[in-house]
Amino acid sequence: MTKKIAVLPGDGIGTEIVAEAVKVLEALRRDFGLNIEMEQALVGGAAYDAAGHPLPEQTLALAKAADAVLLGAVGGYKWESLDIALRPEKGLLGLRSELGLFSNLRPAILYPQLANASTLKPEVVSGLDIMIVRELTGDIYFGKPRGIRVLENGEREGFNTMVYCESEIERIGRSAFDIAMRRDKRVCSVDKANVLECTELWREVMTRVARDYPEVTLSHMYVDNAAMQLVRAPKQFDVMVTGNMFGDILSDCAAMLTGSIGMLPSASLDAFGKGMYEPIHGSAPDIAGKGIANPVATILSVAMMLRYSLNQLELAERVESAVNKVLDQGLRTADIYTPGMHKTGTAEMGDAVVNALR
Ligand code: IPM
Ligand code: MG
Repeated sequence: MTKKIAVLPGDGIGTEIVAEAVKVLEALRRDFGLNIEMEQALVGGAAYDAAGHPLPEQTLALAKAADAVLLGAVGGYKWESLDIALRPEKGLLGLRSELGLFSNLRPAILYPQLANASTLKPEVVSGLDIMIVRELTGDIYFGKPRGIRVLENGEREGFNTMVYCESEIERIGRSAFDIAMRRDKRVCSVDKANVLECTELWREVMTRVARDYPEVTLSHMYVDNAAMQLVRAPKQFDVMVTGNMFGDILSDCAAMLTGSIGMLPSASLDAFGKGMYEPIHGSAPDIAGKGIANPVATILSVAMMLRYSLNQLELAERVESAVNKVLDQGLRTADIYTPGMHKTGTAEMGDAVVNALR
């Protein structure tokens, strides 16, 4: 059966990197029998400009009807002064919550070829392979009440609510433990249970879930320490599971261990295997339109799509090994460039991956 893929390039470098990922999908369709059809739609600032809303009805309907969604990035200087409800980021957050994509997988893997591109010493990061499992539809991102109110003395006060119910914690916990069962069987749950009741409950529920996974070792870590440990001794981690806000921050931090945030893909999954796949970096408006962005994170997101939503394990591995080959050939976009390598642009990198698929 033909699988439907909604392609949402978004803003900034989103359009450039998604174009390369689409080249890879086209090649898989043409030469390797991948049975897909793709349809594009607007999201984020581009959608606001064209339709007055960052997540138009049409785009949401397309994403809902699809088997998987490929997303570039949203946001840019141009839309920063818009009302928060109309900002490009709301397009992305709307997709996550409307599609029920609660489980966000953010692998941080160091390609050996890039050990020198990391800002950390090669011995600290070589062999790094962490899976961050970030809860994606709850927490302070979506909690109510929220807003900015005027106090009696006329001063304004901003407020948001960090909130998690037990079932939300439990299901992300199960995601993390299921993944750990296929890896090194260690889960580190990150919270701030020494200060926040919400995460005190988080810790309690994680401990309860762990009883169903006797083979997996569960540890707990406060988020401040986790940030420190990630740059001090990152290889101690196998699977990290945490809430939406802490996961946002820690995954950027983990990304840098691998040399560049331009290398890291992500999958956001619902309870049934449907997913949205996107690079974890943003729209990078400072380099948009220059043809220098790294398309690898988006191409690796396609590999995750093949693995988690399209059940095409072999093709997923084919894409990943094509990326490996291209790195072996010495091709580097600016973000992962080190002297002696061959500096390439976005399209050249994408073409090289397509050629390496064979
Ligand atoms: C991410 C991004 C988003 C987030 C933004 C763009 C809303 O930083 O996917 O990590 O905060 O989740
Ligand atoms: Mg982020």
